[in-house]
Amino acid sequence: MEYRVIVLAAGEGKRMNAGENKQFIKIGHKPLILHTLDVFNKDKWCTSIVLVVNKREKDRMKSILKGFPLKKTLSLVEGGMERQESVFYGLKHINDDGSIVFIHDGARPFVSVDSLHELAEETSKTKAALLAVPVTDTIKQRKGSELNTLDRKTLWAAQTPQAFHYDIIYHAHKQAAETGFLGTDDASLVERTGHPVSIVKGSYDNIKLTTPEDLNRAQSYLKNK
Ligand code: CTP
Ligand code: MG
Repeated sequence: MEYRVIVLAAGEGKRMNAGENKQFIKIGHKPLILHTLDVFNKDKWCTSIVLVVNKREKDRMKSILKGFPLKKTLSLVEGGMERQESVFYGLKHINDDGSIVFIHDGARPFVSVDSLHELAEETSKTKAALLAVPVTDTIKQRKGSELNTLDRKTLWAAQTPQAFHYDIIYHAHKQAAETGFLGTDDASLVERTGHPVSIVKGSYDNIKLTTPEDLNRAQSYLKNK
């Protein structure tokens, strides 16, 4: 089974507080973004990579990629102000060929090949799927002075990759852009078109590196791998 991937690296990494885009932070011996690209470069099911970068960081990314042993096509595309815009630019770059498109955060370097393959297989059946894990915390919802406890059995923490048939995700993004809707993930844009999205249970190791604490976790994950 084949898929293409859009890897997002055009953010600023503000919450990481590293004084630069977190994609360039070294984990072990190499920058975070190379760990993430490595997974897709090695996965035989992945046919090509679209890497979405900040315009100002294009040259820096190119120079990092010089030493990277690419086994497939990688194109650099300029991102936008919001993650959602960055994804849309990536989608526009691809042009529909009916393929399955994965959308993945550059800041999630530890996704396993097994998860990628399970996700691809599910997407070939349902046309829209994402990796997610059952929520382990009890989640409270506060609206004004009212507090409710959500039923944990129904709650999943969304991860990436999220995967779609190209036409479905392209039209969901187009519709969101036209109506000014800004979602926090890509699946939410598809959900509001009425198309069902299925969940593939992922791994708790597939963390997104967001805050400085996550870096310690990442370093120790690499050490024990
Ligand atoms: N991203 C992107 N374009 C944007 C914003 C985010 O491509 N305009 C990417 C990030 O580079 C990251 C992924 O989307 O790989 C997930 O976003 P997040 O973890 O929020 O990263 P940042 O936006 O960089 O971090 P922060 O929100 O703390 O500034
Ligand atoms: Mg962000």
